[in-house]
Amino acid sequence: MMEKSIGADAQRVDGADKVKGNALFGADRILPRMAYALPVTATIGKGRIRSIDTAEAEAMRGVLVVLTHLNTDRLKPLQFVFAGGHGIQSFQPLQSDIVLYRGQAIALIVADSLEAAQAARSLVRVDYETASFAVELDGRGSETVNQSTALPYFPDFVAGDADRALSTAAITVDETYTTPAQHQNPIELLATVAEWAGDCLIIHESTQASQGLCGGLALQLGIDPASVRVISPYVGGGFGQKNSIAPHTVMAAVAARRVGRPVKLVVPRDQVFHATSFRSAAKHRIRVGADSTGKIIAAIHEMRAQTSRFDLMPFTGAETTSRMYGIPNFRSGVTLVKLDTQTPGFMRAPFEMSAFFALEGAMDELAYKLACDPVELRIANDTHTDPITGKAYTVRRLADCLRRGAQQFGWARRSAEPRSMRDKDGTLIGWGMAAGAYPVIIAAALATVRLNADATAEVWVGGHEMGQGIRTAITLVAAEELGIEPQKIRVTIGDTIAPPQHVTAGAWGTATATPPVLEAARSVRAQLIELAGSKADSPPGSAQYGELLKRSGLSHLDGHAQWFAPGQKPEVIAKAKQGLIAIRGPEFPDCVAFSYIAHFVEVRVNPRIPRARVARIVSVVDCGRVISKRTARSQVYGGLVWGVGAALSEESEVDPRFGGFLNSNIAEYQIPVNADMGSCEVDFIDEPDLKLNSLGVKGLGEIVCVGAAAAVANAVFHATGRRVRDLPIRIEDLM
Ligand code: MOS
Repeated sequence: MMEKSIGADAQRVDGADKVKGNALFGADRILPRMAYALPVTATIGKGRIRSIDTAEAEAMRGVLVVLTHLNTDRLKPLQFVFAGGHGIQSFQPLQSDIVLYRGQAIALIVADSLEAAQAARSLVRVDYETASFAVELDGRGSETVNQSTALPYFPDFVAGDADRALSTAAITVDETYTTPAQHQNPIELLATVAEWAGDCLIIHESTQASQGLCGGLALQLGIDPASVRVISPYVGGGFGQKNSIAPHTVMAAVAARRVGRPVKLVVPRDQVFHATSFRSAAKHRIRVGADSTGKIIAAIHEMRAQTSRFDLMPFTGAETTSRMYGIPNFRSGVTLVKLDTQTPGFMRAPFEMSAFFALEGAMDELAYKLACDPVELRIANDTHTDPITGKAYTVRRLADCLRRGAQQFGWARRSAEPRSMRDKDGTLIGWGMAAGAYPVIIAAALATVRLNADATAEVWVGGHEMGQGIRTAITLVAAEELGIEPQKIRVTIGDTIAPPQHVTAGAWGTATATPPVLEAARSVRAQLIELAGSKADSPPGSAQYGELLKRSGLSHLDGHAQWFAPGQKPEVIAKAKQGLIAIRGPEFPDCVAFSYIAHFVEVRVNPRIPRARVARIVSVVDCGRVISKRTARSQVYGGLVWGVGAALSEESEVDPRFGGFLNSNIAEYQIPVNADMGSCEVDFIDEPDLKLNSLGVKGLGEIVCVGAAAAVANAVFHATGRRVRDLPIRIEDLM
């Protein structure tokens, strides 16, 4: 009998393949006669190309062609993902002389070797006509729109009468918090290998959306989606950067068609900052009012967030801040600020990371004003009814996250006064905490599970392995149900040969892929029991599978399942098959669902050179049932690194004189390294949320960094007495 696999600390099933170099990422494909493409990008903030001279570059040995707006293929329009399309943005470079932002591609060099392409880049001569532009949230020349008016699908969140209730509050906080633009910077760069076989296009790419790429490319190129296959078995980090079709992919496809050879295009790190999405800069005015007992009676959360000049990227942080606590009177409002960059998009916990820096900072400020413990304040304002819809939450173990985290951290030993805790050498010690929530979102999926006569199995389902461990989770579910070892199961995901490959994002991957896999495996199991002719409720041991199938003259057994989120209609499968987003949640027909987290952080600050360093973090998560403990824990570690980065170092710098993002490299865009992290302790509540799916899975990828930056900032306040409301917190803020 095999050990219980689900929830156990099982190994990452693709770990060995990754370590041995057998796992093929997008750019790892090396095809015969492959050519290399490299974009040339605009060096002005905005304007148009007056002339572009590619003669010298094209004359260089090894260069096959230089594509510009003058000679490249015309593409059909692509819609922005929030306008119902497949694109990371609607604007497609190389289609005209227009330059909408610094870093936009304006030419593509295609050469025999990467070296030739690199060398030719500097030989492209461009003469620009410049135009004025805006890149700052409060800068001149921007344009603003009210989100709920411009995008009725993203309304404000309202309960009761927040303005009236706030005016009666005994204690109020009214502060402005800002978070900068940030870039995802996964280790793996954006990369496409495009090859044509006659009229059929094969794309090898690391993407979170192989179906989206398939549907989007077909539209752009005006070809049948059935003649496009996108293959993406591994992604070296996505974080939202790779969840829709970005300009480099179609450029590679067009280049491959033009030169009649496969083309590899790897977007260099310095270009990545303008080649796809990023997290918009945001500013939050947050007002919270409580009565004298610490019961919060009202909150108003108003946001300004950046979008591009040509697309409206919504900012939906109040979807979650409005339901974090039982605040009976609430109102939100969002102003979108159109700036001259590429369109911002999703970056891990896309809105919540910023919105909870504001909310959880304000909660800390409120706790100090009330002279109340911040953990107790949050527990006192917990709720089981969603103030916005009046519906019940599904499993909501926020208070348990808070209590368990406080216990594991030793929170009771904290003295509340700022600057009251010091090490022997005078180092200031700060203990801070914050909580977070993230909506449970689920997509529709189909799964096939095949059991072979040699007791190996194959699984086909939608999903993308970005390192988060979805392949491991899928394997563990199938292994347990089929009663075979995880190593005997092969999982095909991220490949449009098994549609629909839902966009893997929003922390919905596991909750979407594993329920149909369970059901399909159950069907195989039922067939095994039937073949065995046994009245028992379990099939014989896997050693007998071969014999059973042989006796019945079968080479394999197939189980199929389709699965929808609660309240989702079967029609969504058609949408998903076109690579369009087909999701449900956080509101389901009779419930509202979120994942929760509590973070406890210790920072240490040298009083002479006041640089905050994170010494330890304890985080406790309610993400429903944990399917794959090892990869889940690892995902939380990653999210905490994000929290520390957001709090202390990460910012994409803009300058109104130049446009674009200027620190476009990971030397100057600073991400925490090992020495910046201290110790991280992670725990899971691990209670299945069975209202949502048969496995009780909620979501984990996004929740882990929600509130993390606030916890660090609150700890910095406790250490230093400085309340920094503008991220990142740098030495100069603490001088
Ligand atoms: Mo993720 S930020 O939803 O791709």
